[in-house]
Amino acid sequence: MKESGVDGRILELFRSGDGVVSGAALSKALGVSRTAVWKHVKGLRVKGYQIEAVPSKGYRLLSSPEILTNLDITAGLATKRIGSSILCLKETDSTNSVAFKMAEEGAPEGTVVIADTQSAGKGRLGRVWLSPPGVNLYCSVVLRPAIAPVAACQLTFLSVVAVARAVERCTRLKPQIKWPNDILINGKKVAGLLNEMNAETEKVNFVVLGIGVNLNLRMSTLSQGLLRHPATSLLEEGGEEVDRIRFTRVLLEELDQLYGDFLVEGDGPVRAEWLARSAIKGRSVKVSQQNREFRGVVQGVDSFGALLVLLSDGTLETVLSGDVALL
Ligand code: BTN
Repeated sequence: MKESGVDGRILELFRSGDGVVSGAALSKALGVSRTAVWKHVKGLRVKGYQIEAVPSKGYRLLSSPEILTNLDITAGLATKRIGSSILCLKETDSTNSVAFKMAEEGAPEGTVVIADTQSAGKGRLGRVWLSPPGVNLYCSVVLRPAIAPVAACQLTFLSVVAVARAVERCTRLKPQIKWPNDILINGKKVAGLLNEMNAETEKVNFVVLGIGVNLNLRMSTLSQGLLRHPATSLLEEGGEEVDRIRFTRVLLEELDQLYGDFLVEGDGPVRAEWLARSAIKGRSVKVSQQNREFRGVVQGVDSFGALLVLLSDGTLETVLSGDVALL
């Protein structure tokens, strides 16, 4: 077992138990001596984990470092591809920019970059993604699918559905998808996705899936006027703090599952789930594009991620970009 693997297993055992875990149990589960367990506990304390030694009983994890750590996320992470390498940063400009650069330098598929805060978080259409520290998830994932560039937007379905599933697994809330890639709760935006791609004419070199989820943000801490659209967080809507580590792990597991299925079955199943969750089919919408605005009824999405909108004159519009509001 790798050294970091032992640390990760210790954290996993602390979290799966209900309090104190004995040194003997740790030593047996890990196949290392009790002295080695003690050394790892000391090492974890240096990394910011508060671990109490309970006389003649064992150890208890009191708290984890405030920022997400690689160890927190990898401990017990059950994925095949996503999370092959995880970089957790205290602060960066944008996790998408970091992941994009790493991918250009050859980072393997499944590489994940997470930051506690972003100084220049990127949103869609050149907007800023507000990224305060300590409360939310800002994460980017490198994928290298053997697909044509026109098909890359199919991966958007995949990341949106993964976030929706993670929200459902970690809270009692009912997320809704808004085209192309927003997640709403009670009509307010709780997560956004920004996928960036590096491609040649015929083939994708890599895609960076950028995912931002408002987990424990108190909306009252944001200055008025910073938000374009009504926004919220899982805490605001559900009334309970969300465990950032668990949410991140669940999200990476759902992404892994959906991406594995996508590689075998194509985009059909994930597109169907996207459509079912978006509850947009058959609804009247207003589409606002740079120089144009129109209304129509949504017929579905095509396999290139475009929204199909039927206008009153019978024209079927294929919408590739813009803002869509339900009427
Ligand atoms: C949107 O406008 O809805 C998309 C927001 C995407 C934000 C995430 S946060 C992690 C990743 N890094 C970025 O700079 N942006 C994405």
